[in-house]
Amino acid sequence: MKILGISGGRKYGNNDSMCKEALIAAKEMGAEVEFINLLDLDIKHCIGCTACVNSLMTGKGNMCVLKDDFDWLLDKMLDADGIIFANPIFCKGAPSMFLAIRDRFGPRMDRGNNVTANKIAKETGGKTPDPRILKDKVISYIGIGGSDWVTRFQCDSAIQALTPMWKVIDNEVFPWSTGIIVDKDKVARIHEIGWNLAKAAQDITNASYKGEEGVCTHCHSRNFFLDRESTHAICCMCGIEGDVKIVDGKVRFEFPQEQLKHAHDTLSGKLIHAEDIGKTIATSIELKKSDDYKQSIEKYKNFITATKPAR
Ligand SMILES: Cc1cc2nc3c(=O)[nH]c(=O)nc-3n(C[C@H](O)[C@H](O)[C@H](O)COP(=O)(O)O)c2cc1C
Repeated sequence: MKILGISGGRKYGNNDSMCKEALIAAKEMGAEVEFINLLDLDIKHCIGCTACVNSLMTGKGNMCVLKDDFDWLLDKMLDADGIIFANPIFCKGAPSMFLAIRDRFGPRMDRGNNVTANKIAKETGGKTPDPRILKDKVISYIGIGGSDWVTRFQCDSAIQALTPMWKVIDNEVFPWSTGIIVDKDKVARIHEIGWNLAKAAQDITNASYKGEEGVCTHCHSRNFFLDRESTHAICCMCGIEGDVKIVDGKVRFEFPQEQLKHAHDTLSGKLIHAEDIGKTIATSIELKKSDDYKQSIEKYKNFITATKPAR
């Protein structure tokens, strides 16, 4: 069993140390452990070219045009049975280095896209994506902050697992925690998170979420997109639509069972989303042929050019 720890914090800082605490617990459970600090890597941000998904959907395999350390990191992640991310909380959410990785997972690592790409490759004799992409995996997220500005962190984190459909075991924030390494209770909780992850990695099929129950009973998120005029609410994490209610003085999110098949962390939800995207792309390909579209593009192109620093 391999457990990979990834820290997005400063060298020998809070996140490095707590990521290692979780790895100590995993090692005690018999895991082979490896540690990576994101500051050692060159990870470029996604440029939105969609070459990855075009390659996947035309039987050419899974690729990215950017040349940096992302594929090295991805290889390490795909080799592990379980991953623990420890990230500093920046601006209430996950730091941009982690978000760059999350975006780079994007369409390229989406479980639905890879299931479809496998079928296409088999039908056309094309290149099948790396089989490790469709392997189940467990993952936990730790966020360490210097204050109580932490409200987006868990949602930012879990969306990364949603793409490849990896199982989230713990997803916890530690506010007011710049001195965490000497806080015995918090260190013990992080040790438990490492233990939970290693235990889950031993039996991924039956592994389940071990963290605090959230408001969304499907994905445990506490972040919602609320409607001003009604009780309608959308879970910011899994996308399930329902209603927020106050029951016995407590906030409850209720949704029809039918919504589960649309959840963004399920294969059915992913395939529905891919079909919707496919229709939008087909419509925009047609639109781009129209004179109206061509004239509009020219208008904006000719209005102003982007100012760039001299190199
Ligand atoms: C750019 C920046 C933004 C930050 N924003 C937040 C924040 O919104 N909420 C919070 O609790 N802490 C915030 N912090 C504090 C860091 O999360 C905290 O110092 C973290 O534990 C540092 O981790 P490290 O020691 O592993 O580098 C911020 C720090 C920086 C540098």
